[in-house]
Amino acid sequence: MKVMLFPGTFDPFTRGHRDIVRRASKLCDKLVVAVMENSAKSPLFTPDERVDLIKRSLAGENLNNIEVMEWGGLLVDLYKQLDCCASVRGIRSESDFRYEAELALANRLLYPEYDAILLPCRDDMSLISSTIVKEVGYYGGDISKMVPAEIIDTVNDKFMKGRKQ
Ligand code: PNS
Repeated sequence: MKVMLFPGTFDPFTRGHRDIVRRASKLCDKLVVAVMENSAKSPLFTPDERVDLIKRSLAGENLNNIEVMEWGGLLVDLYKQLDCCASVRGIRSESDFRYEAELALANRLLYPEYDAILLPCRDDMSLISSTIVKEVGYYGGDISKMVPAEIIDTVNDKFMKGRKQ
């Protein structure tokens, strides 16, 4: 069985991420979407909240080969544990490509069997990122074109609570 991993911070999950899930799920028997930590980021949403947002975003997709989980360790350790054939990551730009190439190289140093598939994003999603969602949402802007409809209210609630504090 070909298992692929889609790792990320997903803070929060975006329409761009969902597009990668849709496309990657066709390339393998099972796609595991793993909510992970990035030591350079301080997430707004807890890992449990992010898993929940992803599950709700994918509930209506009729994709029966997806699993969503949380992982607090090294990516390669989960990759080995699940016996993955590749990780998948979306790329929007040249700078994304550089970052992904470095990440893949580092992971290959840790585990030579590691491989990564980089999927170029759809052109209408090239400006969507979790960071932009948080910036727009924090100031009360419209995030409806950036995050799946199923989670807009929950994501906006989080911004409202953040503004009140
Ligand atoms: O969505 P992001 O923040 O670009 O995802 C980056 C992520 C979470 C995939 C990366 O930071 C990661 O793999 N974190 C787990 C710890 C790890 O294995 N780091 C890479 C070692 S070089």
